[in-house]
Amino acid sequence: MRTQVGIVGAGPAGLLLSHLLHLRGIDSVVLESRSRRYVEQRVRAGVLEQGTVDVLDEAGVGERMRAEGLPHHGIELRYGGGGHRVPFERLVPGRAITVYGQQEVVKDLIARRLADGGTILFDVPDVALHSLEKDPYITFSGERLDCDVIAGCDGFHGVSRPSIPEGVLTVFRREYPFAWLGVLAEVPPSAEELIYAHSDRGFALHSMRSPEISRFYLQVPPDTSLEDWPDERIWAELRARLETVPGFTLAEGPIISRDVSAMRSFVAEPMRYGTLYLAGDAAHIVPPTGAKGLNLAVADVRLLTAALAEFYATGSTALLDAYSSSCLKRVWRAQHFSWWMTTLLHTFDDDPYGRRLQLSHLDYVTSSEAAATTLAENYVGLPFDFGARP
Ligand code: FAD
Ligand code: PHB
Repeated sequence: MRTQVGIVGAGPAGLLLSHLLHLRGIDSVVLESRSRRYVEQRVRAGVLEQGTVDVLDEAGVGERMRAEGLPHHGIELRYGGGGHRVPFERLVPGRAITVYGQQEVVKDLIARRLADGGTILFDVPDVALHSLEKDPYITFSGERLDCDVIAGCDGFHGVSRPSIPEGVLTVFRREYPFAWLGVLAEVPPSAEELIYAHSDRGFALHSMRSPEISRFYLQVPPDTSLEDWPDERIWAELRARLETVPGFTLAEGPIISRDVSAMRSFVAEPMRYGTLYLAGDAAHIVPPTGAKGLNLAVADVRLLTAALAEFYATGSTALLDAYSSSCLKRVWRAQHFSWWMTTLLHTFDDDPYGRRLQLSHLDYVTSSEAAATTLAENYVGLPFDFGARP
């Protein structure tokens, strides 16, 4: 088999890349180790930045997102017995976020690729990358895919990044001493906007997927097991962390899925080796407190598409050569914002000094227009040319 771009991974990065390349007349094959059902059901991100929404819209895959997604113009920071709204419409006029599940984006992209005659191979075992410096190819279950370049879009645990020879990458990382327990519940949201709650018992987040489905997260110990969290304990903890302002009652309903996610920050530089280009979680991870991971993946593949389109149209490798450094400007801004939101809102053991700093900083963010604007402009997403300007 031969294609122009061999794409490893059918997550948001790999699928969107395949679609954007198709729109530019560039051929690709997507190889995915899991089943179509698995990738379409995996519950993860929910917040799309304005720029992500624009990219999906402009690429003609935004129809269902526009119909079913929930535009939000603010979030609430809840702590110390009070709720404080961060009003995007005043702080960053014209920019908002859209709450639309990652698995819905994935469903939309798969449907569109298949309708356009694209090739996505699911349930593909033993993917291996070869000859990355020149004339690369990918092997899987006894088959061989030759290509001009490979896009490693296979997430944090994929094969692409480990295929790069030792000593090439510089890795930056931070592990956090807690995890997130995520819960999807069949109950209408108890608030119209997302609530980020800081409390002595730990962080809690009230999010949603639709007018009928709520999504919650709880800060939990890193070694926690799902068996430790029967429904009643989850609701009791959510109530204790969220029902902290007068008049707020948490509506409860059947829990339909639960998951635990590690919290880490990670960047591997550069995002390229020879003919292999890494995109999305394969190259970088942020803790989900800033809601940035999926949005970064979209920003990466947008740049990779432009670079490959220029290469195929003119033979110039200028944009491909700049790919890694261009992506990393945005990646590091999101790294800082995600680390900042995480350290601002979570509870760290045995750190009374740090706790006072958190409260002081929360007071600042909720009372100063300048500080609130910093949060708002990062949360809704900086322009795509961030860092490119002198
Ligand atoms: P992935 O989604 O991980 O996709 C990689 C794909 O590659 C997978 O389908 C995998 O099966 C496949 N694969 C792996 N190994 C192989 C192999 N060897 N061969 C072939 N295929 C392989 N981000 C946001 O922007 N907003 C949010 O609100 C947000 N909330 C989050 C909440 C949680 C709880 C979590 C865990 C994450 C959240 N994120 C959020 C982050 C976001 O989900 C990820 O950043 C996003 O999934 C990255 O997309 P990706 O395509 O790079 O990688
Ligand atoms: C979600 O709805 O899944 C979600 C929302 C905000 C975050 C992370 C996840 O910061």
